[in-house]
Amino acid sequence: MNPVVEKLELAEPHLANWLSTLGLDVEYVRSGGNTLFYRRADGTEIPVLDLVGGYGSVVLGHNNPEIVAYAKSLLDGGTPVHAQFSRHPYANDLAWKINGIIHREFGDPEPYSAIFANSGAEANEVAVKHAELDRVLKLAELLEGVAAHAEEARAAVGTGARLEVSAEALAALGVEGDPAQEGGEGIERVLAAVDRVNAERAGAAPVFLAPEGSFHGKLIGSVQFTHNPGYRTPFTALAARCRFVDVSRPEALTEAIDEERRSLFDLRAEDGTVRVVERELPVIGAFLLEPIQGEAGIRVFDRETARRIQDACATADIPIVVDEVQSGMGRSGAFFAASHIGLRGDYITLAKSLGGGIAKAGLTLVRGSRYRTDFELVHSSTYAKDSFSTLIAAKTVDLLEADDGKAYRLAETRGNQLLAVLEGLRKEFGDIVADVRGRGLMLGLEFHDQSGSTSEIIREQAGAGLLGYLLSGYLLRVHSLRIFPTASATNTLRFEPSVYLTDEEIARTEAGLRGLIAVLREQDGETLLHG
Ligand code: F0G
Repeated sequence: MNPVVEKLELAEPHLANWLSTLGLDVEYVRSGGNTLFYRRADGTEIPVLDLVGGYGSVVLGHNNPEIVAYAKSLLDGGTPVHAQFSRHPYANDLAWKINGIIHREFGDPEPYSAIFANSGAEANEVAVKHAELDRVLKLAELLEGVAAHAEEARAAVGTGARLEVSAEALAALGVEGDPAQEGGEGIERVLAAVDRVNAERAGAAPVFLAPEGSFHGKLIGSVQFTHNPGYRTPFTALAARCRFVDVSRPEALTEAIDEERRSLFDLRAEDGTVRVVERELPVIGAFLLEPIQGEAGIRVFDRETARRIQDACATADIPIVVDEVQSGMGRSGAFFAASHIGLRGDYITLAKSLGGGIAKAGLTLVRGSRYRTDFELVHSSTYAKDSFSTLIAAKTVDLLEADDGKAYRLAETRGNQLLAVLEGLRKEFGDIVADVRGRGLMLGLEFHDQSGSTSEIIREQAGAGLLGYLLSGYLLRVHSLRIFPTASATNTLRFEPSVYLTDEEIARTEAGLRGLIAVLREQDGETLLHG
C-alpha cells in the first residue's frame, strides 16, 4: 500500500488533532476494573484511573471478569446471535427481571413491555416513536368519533334540530353568514369547514417537552431533545420540535402545556340542538427527562419537582419518558435513579451499563396500559434483542442484584465517600471549586469560571468553553487520572467510576485534584497545557 495513504488519518482526524493539543490523545490498549492502560512510545504501559467509567457504561468495571467469562462461554457455545423472527425467551427473561425491579423500587405492579435497541439514543428514539404511534392512533380514534358525530348532527338537523354555533367557532372555522338559518345547507357548510380545519390541525407535527439542560442522544430525533444548541440547532429541520422548560419554576410546565395545547372541532346533538364543541387534540408527544441530568453538569431532580412533573403530565395525559441511560443500572444507589424521587415513567430507557461494558445494548420499557402491539410490526433493528447482548444484559442485572443488591449499596457508600472528598475540597478551596453535586456514583465537581484568568492559556480555553478539557489533559498527563467534563457544562468534571472504587483510588483522586487546584490557584496555564 502507498505509505503516504496509509498514514492519512481517516477516523475523525479533527477530533484526534484536538485531543493531541490537550495531551489527551493516548491510545488505551487494555482495561480492567477502574483502570485503563495506555502505552508510551518506549513500550511501557501506563495505568490510568478511569473516573469517567465509559461515561457511565462500566458500573461493574471494565472487562468485569464474570461478564467476560460469561461472554466467552456464550461465544464458545455458538450462541445464535442472529435469529430474528424466532422465539427469544432470554429477552422475555430480561424483561421480567427488570419488571421485578420496577415492582420493588416503585411499588408498581403494572408490567412494562420491552423493546430492544442498540444504544441510548436509539432507546430514546424508540420511546418517542412509540409515543408518536400512540398519539396518531388516539388521534385517528378521535377523528372517527368526530365523523360519527357529524353523521348524527346531519341526521338531527334533518329531523328539525336547531343548529347553534358560537361566533368564535364560526370565525375559527372560517364560515360566513349564519348557517343556523340555512337548515340542511347550513349544517353542510359547517361540516365541510369542521373537516377542513380538523384535517389541518390534526396534520400538525407533535411537540415534545423536556427540562432545560436535557441530553438524550445525538441521532436525528434524539438530538432535538438535547438542549445544547451546538448539537441540536443545525438539525432542527429534520425532526419534531422540543420545547425546553425551566422546571425549577413551579408553574413553568403547566404554562408550557397550556401554550402548546390545540383543539379539534366536534359536533354534539343533544335535546333538539346541534352544537359545535371543541375537543382536546393530542399534540404533545411526550415529556422526556433524566432523573439525574448528566450532560447538564450532574443535576439531581428532587421529589417535589418530580411530583409537579408527574401531576402536570397526568392531568394533560402526556406520557413521561424517563431516560435512565446514564443514571440507571445501579449507579445512583438504586437500579433506577427515578426511584429515589418516586418518578414513575410511562417509558423507561436503559443503555450504557446495560451491556455490562461489553455488549452494545439498549432497552425501552413501555408501561402496559400505553403499549401498542402494532409497534412490533413497524419497528426492528438487526442486532437488537440478539442473544449475545441480551444474555449479557441479563447477567449484568443478575450481578447488580446479587447478595441482596450489594452493588447498589456499594454505589451509595463508595459514592458518599468520594462525595465527602469533593465536598472537602469545595470547603477548603471555595475560590476555585464552585459546587459539588450528584448522587451515588454520578457526581459532578464544578469549577468557577476562569474566562477572566490572568493566564492567557486558561483564559482562552475557558472562553472557548473548554476549561474542563484543559483540566482533563493535566489530570491525565500529570496524575494519570481520566476525568472529563459533562458535555454541556464544561466547567463541571464528572465522576462515574465503577462500584469497585477503592479507598486507595479515592485517595489518588483527591491527590490529583489537590494538584490541579494548586495549579489553578497559581494560574499556571503552562503546566495545565504542557506539564
Ligand atoms: N441519554 C443520556 C442521559 C445520555 O447521557 C446519553 C449519552 C444518551 C442518552 C445517548 O446514549 O451514546 O448510547 O447513544 N451520553 C453520552 C455522554 C454521550 O456523554 O455521557 P448513546
